[in-house]
Amino acid sequence: MKIVSILGVGALLFSVGFGAQSVLADDAPVVFTEAFLKDKAIFKQGKEIWFEQCTHCHGYKAYPGKAPKLKPKRYTPEFVYKRVSKGFKKMPAWEEVYDKDELMAVVAYVKHRKFSP
Ligand code: HEC
Repeated sequence: MKIVSILGVGALLFSVGFGAQSVLADDAPVVFTEAFLKDKAIFKQGKEIWFEQCTHCHGYKAYPGKAPKLKPKRYTPEFVYKRVSKGFKKMPAWEEVYDKDELMAVVAYVKHRKFSP
């Protein structure tokens, strides 16, 4: 009987620990390496997302005043990631729309030297 309850507690602790770990994984800070930011395939993926979702507010055809012209040199990739995933005031949040890889790709596009809004 005792052994059974020890096993039960063990299983409980295991599942709690496991749950906590997956929560941590979701909240893990995103890491942008130089190689990632310069990757051609990532750039292409980010560019597609940009022209699907971002350009009509931030891009060359956007109605003036709709959204600020981005100044990528002033931003860290982490800042762009936060704004894009969480949104800010009239800037929509995209974390429900795109997964982490897609969000990171659009950040790489914004930070790329060939970024063209
Ligand atoms: C509905 C219009 C709209 C869309 C679509 C939109 N944004 Fe924004 N965005 C805004 C507005 C408005 C702000 C300014 C928010 C503020 O600071 O008040 C903003 C702010 C930002 C900022 C911070 C700029 C700064 O200098 O502080 C970044 C980065 C950004 N947007 C990136 C994106 C990306 C990438 C996408 C596409 C995934 C996107 N936005 C789509 C409206 C939009």
